[in-house]
Amino acid sequence: MPRPRVFVTRHIFPEALDAIRKKAQVDLWEDELPPSRATLLEKIKGVDGVLCLLTEVVDAEFMDAAGPQLKVISQIAVGHNNIDVAEATRRGIPVGYTPDVLTQTTADFTFALLMASARRVVEGHEFVRTGKWRTWHPLHFLGQDIYGATLGIVGMGRIGFEVARRATGFGMKVLYYDSIRKRELEVQVPMSPVDMDTLLHESDFITLHTALTKETHHLMSDAQFAKMKKTAILINAARGPVVDPKALYRALKEGKIGGAALDVTEPEPIPVDDPLLKLDNCLIVPHIASASVATRREMSRLAAQNLINGLEKRPLEKCVNPEVYEKT
Ligand code: DGY
Repeated sequence: MPRPRVFVTRHIFPEALDAIRKKAQVDLWEDELPPSRATLLEKIKGVDGVLCLLTEVVDAEFMDAAGPQLKVISQIAVGHNNIDVAEATRRGIPVGYTPDVLTQTTADFTFALLMASARRVVEGHEFVRTGKWRTWHPLHFLGQDIYGATLGIVGMGRIGFEVARRATGFGMKVLYYDSIRKRELEVQVPMSPVDMDTLLHESDFITLHTALTKETHHLMSDAQFAKMKKTAILINAARGPVVDPKALYRALKEGKIGGAALDVTEPEPIPVDDPLLKLDNCLIVPHIASASVATRREMSRLAAQNLINGLEKRPLEKCVNPEVYEKT
């Protein structure tokens, strides 16, 4: 029997690629940058499986271009807003993703962003690097205390919860907003469910951990920034478009809020001439919250295994749409 054909849209850890190569004929996109849409649609023609990234739009056009033999879509990320999951489900195609394995690493990084912006770590480094450090000064680089501050978490999912757990270790008071109250988590970590307005008014730090959906698109915009404390810092390690970037710029520039630390932006990558990059109170890094060696290795393994399971018609280890198995 001919081996199944798969398209892998970027390099992943070599052992994960080797595992796929044992089971399938692999066409690997070697470039650092994603293939153009036209190239992508050409490359996936007739494949049995695709291992993709959040940079690829996987919609009906994509699935049509691949053809009816497409058995599995495996995404190497927990977020999957780039994939039309409803369409994949309609066609009976399981969609794999990589939850859990990145939860702790992403929660750690959220704290790295929080602390770096509160205590002006990057500004301080730049000051030293550019030869401006001439003396110790009582009024230099005054930041904000983390100990005793109030942290507002938007989205009490896996990552939000791990951020809450870390926050209690820092002596923070934790508030959270979620469409569903998480009583089972409240007994594990002291935190209070509040409405969004209360969270905006009372938090010294607000961190976003919600999926990007129609409802959460530009969830943080002018009206929300106007309700925040003037000293508050916004952290986004979820998806860029959860924040309206123009409104964020206005809020930072006009001093409506104290600062922002962003792992994700709209668009991605953020253009180098974007006004947000001109602000001292806005820290931006290139979508690296899950980027530890161990976590990216595990994400690679899981994405590869999901792909292989899909090719072999076995349930995926982590499947976004397990309802596809009810249909067959
Ligand atoms: C995800 O998994 O959704 C992240 O954004 C990348 O780790």
